[in-house]
Amino acid sequence: MKKERVAIIGAGPSGMAQLRAFEAARDAGAEVPEVVSFEKQADWGGQWNFSWRTGLDEYGEPVHSSMYRNLWSNGPKEALEFADYTFDEHFGRPISSYPPRPVLWDYIAGRLAKTDVRSKIRFQTIVRWVEFDEDAETFTLTSEHLPTGETRVETFDRIVVASGHFSFPNVPDFPGVETFTGSIRHAHDFRGAEALKGRDVLVIGSSYSAEDIGSQAFKMGARSVTASYRTAPMGYDWPEGFEERPTIERFDGDVVHFVDGTSKRVDAVILCTGYLHKYPFLPEDLSLSSPNNVYPAGLYGGVIWQKNPRLAYLGAQDQWFTFNMFDVQAWFVRDLILGRIELPDEAEREASITDWLARFDAIETAADEIRFQADYVRDLGQQTDYPAFDIDRVVEIFLAWKADKKKDIMGYRDRVYPSVMTGTLAAEHHTPWIDELDDSLERYLAEDPDETQERSAA
Ligand SMILES: Cc1cc2nc3c(=O)[nH]c(=O)nc-3n(C[C@H](O)[C@H](O)[C@H](O)COP(=O)(O)OP(=O)(O)OC[C@H]3O[C@@H](n4cnc5c(N)ncnc54)[C@H](O)[C@@H]3O)c2cc1C
Ligand SMILES: NC(=O)c1ccc[n+]([C@@H]2O[C@H](COP(=O)([O-])OP(=O)(O)OC[C@H]3O[C@@H](n4cnc5c(N)ncnc54)[C@H](OP(=O)(O)O)[C@@H]3O)[C@@H](O)[C@H]2O)c1
Repeated sequence: MKKERVAIIGAGPSGMAQLRAFEAARDAGAEVPEVVSFEKQADWGGQWNFSWRTGLDEYGEPVHSSMYRNLWSNGPKEALEFADYTFDEHFGRPISSYPPRPVLWDYIAGRLAKTDVRSKIRFQTIVRWVEFDEDAETFTLTSEHLPTGETRVETFDRIVVASGHFSFPNVPDFPGVETFTGSIRHAHDFRGAEALKGRDVLVIGSSYSAEDIGSQAFKMGARSVTASYRTAPMGYDWPEGFEERPTIERFDGDVVHFVDGTSKRVDAVILCTGYLHKYPFLPEDLSLSSPNNVYPAGLYGGVIWQKNPRLAYLGAQDQWFTFNMFDVQAWFVRDLILGRIELPDEAEREASITDWLARFDAIETAADEIRFQADYVRDLGQQTDYPAFDIDRVVEIFLAWKADKKKDIMGYRDRVYPSVMTGTLAAEHHTPWIDELDDSLERYLAEDPDETQERSAA
């Protein structure tokens, strides 16, 4: 019988999880479909694959990653650890709970380095368009190899969308903003806070980007940081020079007026106003459209496109859980494709979506949302052979993390937690986060950090 063909769009953590899931089944002796992964960047890792570029890349394509220099994990690594590849296994010794981007990139890549899944990825190849043929029940996928411009049209039985949803910026307009004389950009185009030293900085938004970019600006010596919230302030005990104000009424040159009647002169504005779910390679009837939330409507099991179950989305949720959630999603999608899990009929799927949406609507607090996502991860994981792990313990770690942030927003990244997978207590990093200006893997792992400093100064 002809093998099924599965296309995975994107080789970030979600697409890599899907590759790993098929690899694990194949290693265990299962017959697996032909898998082709399309990745528009030259390397894997998705958001974790840092680019200095902003706007368009060398091929005129939108730059994908929104990450910046000195981005450190904003949640404890113990909450995202793979159940089948631990930090202990990768690093061979305990590391801290909040590693910087290159360290997490190394960990994600390390899991796949010993396999041959890289050969299944077509790098620098962008998916341009996908269409479903109702009669043949197959997809026609058009891709382009960016360096050569070569276009291919192929047929696939299944599509897994793993293209991420923190890449197309949400850019609202503000009255008078065209008169602003300083620098203004969205968080997607922010690459580091060094140039904000001595400046008065305004971040707009009250979620993770605002919190972290504001904190980066403070850490790098901004004269002042102001965060403007639309719905509710972040409410941390901010250090002197960092304050929150309500929404913007208007800009007037370099002065920003807030709705409480106050105003502030600023040099730089960073719009930390979130991202859009956008899938320019999909027609409307296959395209997810949702605000950034933990249960986007239209996905059975949070992954299967209800209108066409041959299409799946990974990582489409807002994310408390990340890498291990992408894993359970990938294992679940794999097992549906392999026929190990029976797909319920349309009415049953709809009933399941409705149940989850009712629970989603009842969420009142961030802690409820964490527990909701924990239950979701548990529900999917239990249906597959993804190694079981103590999800309640992960919830406890998330709650402790939130309490730590409340206590000390500039110091929480110095805290350590034990691994849920191995019990190993994380190591304290050699330098407090607020003083650490070098996010390289080399310095992070250095036994003697002074030595790396001397070497880079030489
Ligand atoms: C600024 C920022 C900081 C973050 N920090 C953390 C953190 O500290 N901890 C944490 O756990 N999570 C963090 N996240 C969340 C992050 O989204 C996940 O960790 C993870 O990267 C999501 O993986 P993904 O594979 O679903 O998507 P992505 O990582 O976005 O990867 C998607 C991939 O798809 C590719 N792609 C897109 N379109 C196409 C196309 N048409 N054709 C071919 N390839 C395509 C992209 O090039 C990319 O490689 C952060 C996110 C952002 C934006
Ligand atoms: N590792 C790190 O340190 C780090 C750093 C940055 C980002 N991240 C990750 O990146 C992802 C995205 O986070 P995000 O903060 O960019 O997006 P987000 O969580 O979706 O938050 C978007 C924010 O924009 C605000 N907003 C939207 N439209 C607005 C408007 N017109 N006026 C004012 N405010 C507006 C929202 O306010 P309302 O509350 O009013 O809707 C919300 O505060 C998350 O997964 C996060 O964990 C991680």
